[in-house]
Amino acid sequence: MITHQQDLSIDFCGVRFANPFLLSAAPPTDDMDMVRAAFDAGWAGAVLKTTSVETERVDLVYPMMSAVHYDGRRIMGLGNIDLISEHHIDVVEKRARTLKKEYPDRVVAVSIMGSKKEEWQELVRRLEGAGVDIIECSFSCPQGSMGEEPGAMLAQSIEATERVAGWVKQAAGRCPVVIKITPQVTSIVKVAQAVKRGGADALCAANTIPSLMGVNVDTFVPCPDVHGKSTYSGLSGPATKPITLRTLAEIARNVDLPITATGGPVTWRDAVQMMLVGATTVQFCTAVMHYGFDIIDDLRDGLAFYLQDKGFARPADIIGLALPNIVGHGELPREPRVISSVIEDRCVRCDLCYIACRDGGHQAIQLKKPDRLPTIDPEKCPGCRLCVTVCPADALTMVARPPASTRVS
Ligand SMILES: Cc1cc2nc3c(=O)[nH]c(=O)nc-3n(C[C@H](O)[C@H](O)[C@H](O)COP(=O)(O)O)c2cc1C
Repeated sequence: MITHQQDLSIDFCGVRFANPFLLSAAPPTDDMDMVRAAFDAGWAGAVLKTTSVETERVDLVYPMMSAVHYDGRRIMGLGNIDLISEHHIDVVEKRARTLKKEYPDRVVAVSIMGSKKEEWQELVRRLEGAGVDIIECSFSCPQGSMGEEPGAMLAQSIEATERVAGWVKQAAGRCPVVIKITPQVTSIVKVAQAVKRGGADALCAANTIPSLMGVNVDTFVPCPDVHGKSTYSGLSGPATKPITLRTLAEIARNVDLPITATGGPVTWRDAVQMMLVGATTVQFCTAVMHYGFDIIDDLRDGLAFYLQDKGFARPADIIGLALPNIVGHGELPREPRVISSVIEDRCVRCDLCYIACRDGGHQAIQLKKPDRLPTIDPEKCPGCRLCVTVCPADALTMVARPPASTRVS
């Protein structure tokens, strides 16, 4: 354990987090004892699952989960058809007050959803009165936002996003207001700009992605099978991380608002990547639902090790460092040219690079007799990197393209 030597604290909208890791609004934060267990384990904060003044409309359906399994992993992507919390604001208000008393050094945020101005503003006022640190507004429940068309999310409308963010901010005094948006839009930048125009303090990017998780080919019922019927799920977990990274980067490059990341992190490396493209804090849900609260130990140790190893004093120093390296396709350097190269003693002779290059690349790999060692034809290899991508043994790498006269065939 090296965390005690390293300051992992970070400021988000004037609120101090002991480390950049918190639980997102989801089942792990819908129960007091679970939040207590998370705080005891070391999580810096929690966003209590989305509450409202109209919980009688929260009509849950079971079963509500299904997953994409891949290559031995049970959850590459998790799909849920959950709704917001069944717990009314009356309950959540008390919970927030109690948690703040019991854990004054942890960040207690609450997610809210209303269907009209009065509701949004009542939720804000009551939670501020209960002493919460941050108010997060769900504009992005994949099953639809209250007050919108069925299935439509608030954050899919630029106009509604700006208007409702404005209502919430108008009612808020001390508490920073965070708007949780969906990646399922044509322009994430326009949505983020609408949040800023509405006056909100920060963005939470981004909620689950509307998906159809699979279809049973015998019964023709998609997943999850709810007594012979199904509906679209919200997709979370590792499969969504690349989408989250792009969403974060697009916002961070174009809109000057702090971001709390959500969508796909499992390890400290995932979290660091999210910070490198602009996130200040990183929220976890699926990873905790899969592996439990104790992953916080690895997250803190990993981040502390990374910061020390790279010579950074604090987590805030790494926010956005990868952003200058994201450019348009036309601005990418065309030189120096590279080709792939085989590291002979690592090759396990699986033929995968050969097959991929033969049928999906440039037919630039031959298998040398007598032992089927792949060899690269420099005249045919344009350096696309497909072979490196498929190799299970890290036996291929990219090297500088040799000058024509020195090439061996
Ligand atoms: C079962 C389940 C319920 C969720 N409920 C809520 C919710 O009430 N409000 C909300 O803003 N997000 C909700 N989420 C979304 C999560 O907070 C999180 O943004 C999403 O799962 C992506 O992060 P992850 O890949 O770390 O899971 C829920 C997610 C899951 C899996």
